[in-house]
Amino acid sequence: MTKLGIPLDASRTGREAESFDRRLRRFIVGQDEAIDQIVNIYQLYLTGMTPPGRPIGNFLFLGPTGSGKTRTVEATAESLVGNSRAVIKIDCAEFQHSHEIAKLIGSPPGYLGHRETHPLLSQEVLNLYHGDACKISFVLFDEIEKASDALWNLLLGILDKATLTLGDNRRVDFSKAMIFMTSNLGASEMNSILSPRLGFHSLDSAARSKPAKMDEQTAAKISRTGIDAARRKFTPEFMNRLDKTVVFRPLGEAELRRILDIELGLVQQRVLNNAGDNPFVFTTTELAKEFLLNQGTDSKYGARHLKRSIERLLVQPMSNLIATDQIRRGDWIRVDFSSTDSKLGFFKDAEGLPMQAMAELMDQSLFHLNHALTQAAAIEPPRTVQARSSRRG
Ligand SMILES: Nc1ncnc2c1ncn2[C@@H]1O[C@H](COP(=O)(O)OP(=O)(O)OP(=O)(O)O)[C@@H](O)[C@H]1O
Ligand SMILES: [Mg+2]
Repeated sequence: MTKLGIPLDASRTGREAESFDRRLRRFIVGQDEAIDQIVNIYQLYLTGMTPPGRPIGNFLFLGPTGSGKTRTVEATAESLVGNSRAVIKIDCAEFQHSHEIAKLIGSPPGYLGHRETHPLLSQEVLNLYHGDACKISFVLFDEIEKASDALWNLLLGILDKATLTLGDNRRVDFSKAMIFMTSNLGASEMNSILSPRLGFHSLDSAARSKPAKMDEQTAAKISRTGIDAARRKFTPEFMNRLDKTVVFRPLGEAELRRILDIELGLVQQRVLNNAGDNPFVFTTTELAKEFLLNQGTDSKYGARHLKRSIERLLVQPMSNLIATDQIRRGDWIRVDFSSTDSKLGFFKDAEGLPMQAMAELMDQSLFHLNHALTQAAAIEPPRTVQARSSRRG
């Protein structure tokens, strides 16, 4: 046999993994390492290269609050099985005592309430969101540094052998599960590395500083701080069971800007999902976005603070406008910044718009909504567009 010696390119990833990567990046901003690691592990699974008898992947996510650790897990589920609720979340702080562990695994036969307890970690729960296209489960253990010894032992068993024995001795198989664990360990040290740059300023201050883009040296220091804190706290037998440890980066201004667009898109999605037959469309001007960003930037709470600002300054007033019939089906609402009273102003720029016209007004980040609306428009008879203004946010 003559040797062919054809060089192969092992740096390329498969099409399915690439499309998963693209979907994740639509949801998650500025956490490339986390995305790369999840995609790599997913491709190992797709190609049958996951080590046998273990979960698909064991991930530890560290980093500051509001940097996207939980959102990344939800986005993974959303991208793979189409539903962020597919994530089974276990808040470790809530399972401190043995009777609380029974909520996870059920009580042994003969114990009071044995028949009534439905273990949270049963095979049925794990398989609930399996579809034809994807049979992966997602389990998230939040704040693992708060886990009791009993929960810790249970977790070690899952990470190592991909099995869990329930109270009634039934076995649960975790070999088709991605296990995510999060912890804020080291977050305060990370903040102190950043605090000279990201000092807190009054919310009213026009000159309020915004988190700048982080240089690679600071990023590496932050990452080391997180990993060192984890090594100090967790035993080697735990650390050895992890496939990937990712330290999430604190978010800078550019990231928060992109998250703002995603979140505004999600508010529009909420309108479409909940308004029934009465959807409307809104666009946000650059000035209004700048205002939301200013009000929502706080280096301590990451994107959480931004989300709260959107709820308070945009969603609440909009709900008043809906409740008082000032916003109706087919309206185009422009959200602008009013400098006279330093708050957001709401203007009706058009009314009676058909679905197709509303779809066209939406931001590109709402591509999936556009698609849904376009499909809806296909069954609705077109009506005349009455746009009075062409201003867009
Ligand atoms: N990197 C990010 N990309 C996109 N959205 C983000 C990101 N970080 C945070 N968000 C937004 O902020 C919200 C809060 O973030 P998330 O719950 O993921 O924080 P966390 O890192 O899990 O914080 P904690 O340690 O307090 O649990 C998310 O629901 C999401 O809307
Ligand atoms: Mg979280």
